[in-house]
Amino acid sequence: MTQEALKKNVAEFALSYIKPGMIVGVGTGSTVRYLIEALATIKHQLEGTVASSIETENLLKIHQIPVYDLNSVNSVDIYLDGADEANAHRYLIKGRGGALLREKIIATVAKQFIGMIDESKQVDILGEKAPVPIETIPMARSYVARQLVKLKADPVYRENYKTDNGNVILDIYNLNLLNPVDMETRLKQITGVVETGIFAHRPADLLLIAKKNGVIVI
Ligand code: 5RP
Repeated sequence: MTQEALKKNVAEFALSYIKPGMIVGVGTGSTVRYLIEALATIKHQLEGTVASSIETENLLKIHQIPVYDLNSVNSVDIYLDGADEANAHRYLIKGRGGALLREKIIATVAKQFIGMIDESKQVDILGEKAPVPIETIPMARSYVARQLVKLKADPVYRENYKTDNGNVILDIYNLNLLNPVDMETRLKQITGVVETGIFAHRPADLLLIAKKNGVIVI
C-alpha cells in the first residue's frame, strides 16, 4: 500500500470523530487534503470550519464548506491535522508545510486535537527523521540561527519561503529532543522566535496511525 493510500485511509477514518453541529478546525497538508474531500461529503451536517492556512481555507471554499475566522467562533470542537513525526506520548513535530503557527493556535483552542499520520511517521524520539521548523521574524533570522548553533543544532534557512503571517522558517536538524516539553519552552524564549513545530505542551489527544492492515488509535 502506498503512503498516499495510507494518508487517505487515516483521513477517512478521522471523519468518524466529527459529530453534527460541530465547528471543525482543519489542519494543512496532503493528509488534510484527503480530509477536506471527506468533509465535503458531510458538509451540511457541520456548523462550519476554521482553517489553519490560506491553502486550507481556499480548498474548503472550493468545496463550499463554510469557513469562519477563529475570532468569530466561541469554541472549536475538534481539530484534525497531520504531522511530520509523532512519538508514543502523542507529542508531534509539525510545520513541514509551514503552517505551524496557525496550526498550534487552533490546536490550543480546540477541545479535542486529533493527529493523523501514517506509520512511517512514528518515532521513538522526536527529530529522528524530521527537522523541527521554527517560524521566525525575518529580521531576527540570523540571531535565532546563532542561538540554535549554541544549542549544538543545525539550522537551515528555508529559502524563498514566507509563511501566511509574513515570517520565515528555519528548519532545525540535530536538535536534542530527549525532553520535547523543555526544548519547546527553551526555543520559545529566544527573541524573534514566533513559534516552534514541537507540539509537546499541546500534544494530540488522540493519534490515528494508518498501517497496512488498518488504522490504530493511541
Ligand atoms: C503543515 C503540517 C502538516 O500537518 C505536516 O507537514 C504533515 O503533512 P502531510 O500530511 O502532507 O504529510 O504540519 O504545516
